[in-house]
Amino acid sequence: MTSILCDNDNLLGFWYPVARSVDVMSAPVSAKLLGRNLVVWRDGNGTVSALPDRCTHREAKLSLGYVKDNCLVCPYHGWEFAEDGKCVRVPSATEGIPVPPKAHIEAFGCEDRYGLIWVCIGTPKATIPEMPWDNDPKFRRINTPVDTWKCSATRMVDNFLDITHFPFVHVESFGRAQETSVPKVELGPLDDHFFGYSYEVNANNASVGTIASGQSAGVVHRKMSSGFNLPLICRSTIEYETGLSHILLLVSTPIDDVTSYFTFVVWRSDDFAVPSDEVLRLDFMIGAEDKRMLETFDTVLPLDQTSLVSVQADKCSVEWRRQFAALLNG
Ligand code: FES
Ligand SMILES: [Fe+2]
Repeated sequence: MTSILCDNDNLLGFWYPVARSVDVMSAPVSAKLLGRNLVVWRDGNGTVSALPDRCTHREAKLSLGYVKDNCLVCPYHGWEFAEDGKCVRVPSATEGIPVPPKAHIEAFGCEDRYGLIWVCIGTPKATIPEMPWDNDPKFRRINTPVDTWKCSATRMVDNFLDITHFPFVHVESFGRAQETSVPKVELGPLDDHFFGYSYEVNANNASVGTIASGQSAGVVHRKMSSGFNLPLICRSTIEYETGLSHILLLVSTPIDDVTSYFTFVVWRSDDFAVPSDEVLRLDFMIGAEDKRMLETFDTVLPLDQTSLVSVQADKCSVEWRRQFAALLNG
C-alpha cells in the first residue's frame, strides 16, 4: 500500500529532528524517518552522522555496532565506516586489498542544532529554521526527551496551530479560564522562517502554571503567536505582561504515516533560578493532553480542502494544510 508521507519524494529535502543531542554520545542510536531505518552516531571529534541502518556486507544493523577510532564498526564482521559513510576497513581483507567501492554507504545530511540531531534524507531544499533566541544570553534553552506518539505528524501540526481546543483538551492545565470564541485570525509571516498569526488570551494560572508564568494571579494575560515552517515544524511564542518570554519549538517528525517523534525545545528569558524540569511541568502536562487526544486518530489528516469542515478560527491550520498539500504535490 502506498504511504502518503513515506512514498512522497517531495518531503525528503527537509530537515527533521530524530534524536536529542545528549542521547547520541558514545553509542550509535537507531531512528526511523519517513519509513527509513537510520543509525545516528557521533565520532570522537563530536561530529554527528546519519547513515542507513544497513551494513552493505550482510545487512546487519549498524546501530547495534559501536564507535572506535572515529569509525562506526558493524557488529557482524567488523567493517568500519567513516562519518561520511565511506567503508574504510574490512578486517578480513588481506593487507593492500582495496575496499570494494560498493561497500561505501551514502550518508544523509546531519546537523546538531538546538540540542537536537536533524537529518535530511534528500538534497536539502530548505534550512533548519532560525531560532534567534538561541544566541541571546537573556534566554536559556531547555531540551526535552524525544517521545513517540502513535499518530500522524499531520494531526500534530494541525493541533499545534489550533487554539480552539484549549478550553476543552487543556482544561486541566491552562484552558479553563479561556474564552471559547476566537477573535478574527490575521495570517501573515511572523518572521523570515515562520508563517502564522498573533493573538492574546487570558489563561488559567492555577497550581503548576504559576511556575511557568512566574506569577501567582489566578488568570494571566498572554500575548502569543503560533506559526509553522514547512513541512512539519511549529513554533509558539508566549509573552507575559511581566516581560517574561517563553518560546516553544514543537517538532513532529514522521516515523511513518501514523507514528511520529515529538519533542519540544523551550527558550525562556527568566532569571534561570527555577530548575528546568519545574519550569516545564506545565508544558509536559499540555503535551500529555494533546497526545491523549491525538492518539485517538489512526489516519493521516485529510489533506484536500473539502473532506473536513473548517471555520474562521481554523484559518492557520487550513493554510498550513494547503501549503503542505501543495508541497506534497510538487
Ligand atoms: S554485515 Fe556488516 S560487516 Fe558483515
Ligand atoms: Fe494543544
